Amino acid sequence: MTNKRIVLSSDHADIGLRQAIAAHVETLGWEAVDIGPTTSESTPYPKHGAEAAQRVASGDCALGIIVCGTGQGIMMAANKVKGVRCGVCSDTFSAKMIRGHNDANMLALGARVIGAGLAMEIVEAFLSAEFEGGRHATRVDMITALEA
Ligand code: RB5
Repeated sequence: MTNKRIVLSSDHADIGLRQAIAAHVETLGWEAVDIGPTTSESTPYPKHGAEAAQRVASGDCALGIIVCGTGQGIMMAANKVKGVRCGVCSDTFSAKMIRGHNDANMLALGARVIGAGLAMEIVEAFLSAEFEGGRHATRVDMITALEA
């Protein structure tokens, strides 16, 4: 992957976790594009999911990592943006598989579900996996066809 930019966003549930992930991905050789928010004031997750997803859909960033309380709401919003495939992960196996089999370009995390240590391991699993193509590409193409 030549584009090494990762967009990060969250709602108010845990901006600290998002910022810690941003710092962590930099240590892994990625450029973190942290688009906020910068305060813990209540803010709607659909806005932040969509803003991050648009950075990925436009090609500005190769991947995205988004955080809300459960990861679910912000994931649902991100997946409404054409070209985005986002999954919520609370384990490293799923994080590896959404890249390997589903060609996910965004990862959602639930800050009220998992701790920071596990979140970092999930991020590492997501970033180190690669799409396997082949029969999986046919299935991902079927997902893309649903956007038409
Ligand atoms: C906000 O309180 C909470 O609803 C949000 O962070 C997220 O969990 C939604 O899916």
